[in-house]
Amino acid sequence: MSGADSTAGTPGARAITTIDTSKPHPARMYDWMLGGKDNYPVDEELARHMLRIEPHLPLMAKMNRGFMHRSTRWLAQQGVRQFLDIGTGIPTEPNLHQIAQAAAPDARVVYCDNDPIVLAHAEALLHGTPEGAVEFLHADAREIDVVLERAAEVLDFGRPVAVSLIALLHFVSDEDGAARLVDRVKETMTPGSHLVMSHFTTDFYSEEEVREATGTAAARGYSFSPRGREQFARFFDGLELVEPGVVLAEQWRPELGEPVPGQGDSISSTYAAVARKA
Ligand SMILES: C[S@@+](CC[C@H](N)C(=O)[O-])C[C@H]1O[C@@H](n2cnc3c(N)ncnc32)[C@H](O)[C@@H]1O
Repeated sequence: MSGADSTAGTPGARAITTIDTSKPHPARMYDWMLGGKDNYPVDEELARHMLRIEPHLPLMAKMNRGFMHRSTRWLAQQGVRQFLDIGTGIPTEPNLHQIAQAAAPDARVVYCDNDPIVLAHAEALLHGTPEGAVEFLHADAREIDVVLERAAEVLDFGRPVAVSLIALLHFVSDEDGAARLVDRVKETMTPGSHLVMSHFTTDFYSEEEVREATGTAAARGYSFSPRGREQFARFFDGLELVEPGVVLAEQWRPELGEPVPGQGDSISSTYAAVARKA
C-alpha cells in the first residue's frame, strides 16, 4: 500500500453512489470492450449494438489504452512525479500508477472517477510503491473544484502535475461545462505541468452512422458528446503542444508491441495530445 492508503472523503453531490444496472455506464462498457468481467447485460447489449456500427471498438479501446501507457511513461521519463488521472476506469493492468512508478518509484498518483463500480475496485488501484503515493477520489469531474481541492491533499499543485483526462471529455457535454472543467485544470497547474487528453471523434463516420449511434445510446440513457479535431485542439489553448501534437491515439509516439490498426478504416477515431504549461 502507498503513502496515502484509503479512498478519500465523501463524494461531491454529483458522484453516483449506487451501481445502476438498469442502464449502460461508460466504465462498464469500456471494461467489456477491453475483455473485462466488471460489466452487466445492459452494458454488453449497447456495446454489441455499437459494434454493428463500428466493429473495431475493442481494438480502439486498446489503442486508447496504449496512448495512456506511452504518455504516462514519457511524462515520468521527463521528470514528472505527480499525476492526477480523472476518469480512471475500472482497473485494467497495467494501470497508470504502475507505469508511472515503474519509471519513477516516488511518483504520486491520484485517481478520480464518478462511477461506484470503480470505487468498488479502488483497493486494486491503491497498491503502489512504498516511496510513492496512490489515492482514489470518488468524485465527479463536472465538480472540478471539488476534485482539485481533494487532489491537493495528496499532490502539491505548486509543483508540476500531469493531469490526464483520457477518454473522459466525450462524456461531458458543452452544457455540462467541458470547457470550464479544462480551464480550471489549466489555471490550477503550475508552469512545467502537463495536460494529457484523448477524446472520441465522429470525424470519420457518416451522418447516418452518427445519428444511429447517438440515438441508440440516448434511448438507453447513455449520453456522449463526440467532438471534432478543432474542438479537441481548442481545449489545449494557452499550452504548448508536445510533439507530435494532436494526432490519433495510435499515432502518439508509437512503440513496438502496441496494438496496430489493420486495413482501411480500422483506426482509433480517438484524438490524443499532451501539452505543457510554459
Ligand atoms: C472510457 S473510460 C476511460 C478509462 C481510462 N481513462 C482509459 O482511457 O483507459 C471513461 C471513464 O470516465 C468516467 N467518467 C465519465 N464521466 C465522468 C465524470 N463526470 N466524472 C468522473 N468520471 C467520469 C467513467 O466512469 C469511466 O470510468
